[in-house]
Amino acid sequence: MAASGDHGRLVLVTGGAGYVGSHCILELLNAGFDVVAVDNFANAMADDTGKLPESLKRVEALTDKKCTFYQVDMLDAAQLKNLFQKHSFFCIIHCAALKAVGESAAIPLAYYKNNVTGTLNLLEAANAAGVKRFVFSSSATVYGTPQYLPIDEKHPVGVGITNPYGRTKHMVEEILQDLQKSDDTWDIIILRYFNPVGSHESGRIGEDPQGPPNNLMPFVAQVAVGRLAELKVFGSDYDTPDGTGVRDYVHVVDLAKGHVAALKIFDKHFGLKIYNLGTGRGYSVLEMVSAFEKASGQPVKYQIVPRRGGDVATCYGDPSVAEKELGWKCQKNLDDMCRDLWRWQSQNPKGFSSGK
Ligand code: WQD
Repeated sequence: MAASGDHGRLVLVTGGAGYVGSHCILELLNAGFDVVAVDNFANAMADDTGKLPESLKRVEALTDKKCTFYQVDMLDAAQLKNLFQKHSFFCIIHCAALKAVGESAAIPLAYYKNNVTGTLNLLEAANAAGVKRFVFSSSATVYGTPQYLPIDEKHPVGVGITNPYGRTKHMVEEILQDLQKSDDTWDIIILRYFNPVGSHESGRIGEDPQGPPNNLMPFVAQVAVGRLAELKVFGSDYDTPDGTGVRDYVHVVDLAKGHVAALKIFDKHFGLKIYNLGTGRGYSVLEMVSAFEKASGQPVKYQIVPRRGGDVATCYGDPSVAEKELGWKCQKNLDDMCRDLWRWQSQNPKGFSSGK
């Protein structure tokens, strides 16, 4: 039996307290969807009541709308079953995952268990409840070493993935393909993110890495705010214009809007669709550093060090299928990404624990 207040457009967002999840929820609420968010707090901070994620408390304040939250772990199948008994979901956006590439090599079992078994639990609960519209947060990492650029959705996947995290994303994609083939009543959307950066323009929500950041832009922002001493630039001898790695950085608000755009195709039955979410152009590490210095007015000290294992020289996507089929296109440029990230970082130097 559906809880009161539910209607045809109730979206379940897993990992809803996290960086991508919280930005998606903000856009969903603004677009008129109702949201149930779940998170296990593995990578998110609770508010002062200890019950709600601080990120979602801020999303509610920013949107002046409410979302329902439950602390649920994807490994707890009973809790998941319960969730589907309580609510009738229109669809699921599955963002919950462990995502630190380096850590995934150190503790692969935890990554396979959380990201693969956790997704299986979610799919089983959804299947049993007859909720068969599913959006999966995947990653351009499934393309491995690019064989050509820009990378389109037809590019081979699963070859040359250098870490367990990336393999979990690829495995889940395969599971979803098999599931949809076995039961044509499923509609599944796989979104392959390039490099999400930035924050909501209010600076109230953003990426809050626990411990030293693994990714470039949170690291750059923490150097600019004085929390870290200097950036290590991993290699300046790549075959790129300035020798440093080139990536397709996508503003997290554009990415979140991509999810909302994707939900529109659920109005018709389609089976399974895959979309790249990126800008279609790449910037080097040094270009990112100088854009951030300009946006923040702060120097970003850096040192060139040897390449990081597993990195590729250049990676950027072709987002034209998403544009054609979803009517989605990135609206924000590099200056917006840097300005909004700086707003978040300077207003919240220690992330969500900086104070409310
Ligand atoms: C970007 C560029 C680095 C840190 C990873 C995952 C991918 C996705 C996003 C998601 C590269 C350089 C970085 C630093 C540096 N994960 N760099 N100094 O490697 O493209 O993608 O994050 O959940 O699956 O693989 O992103 O931000 O780590 O690196 O010089 O301290 O910055 O070498 O060229 P990447 P990144």
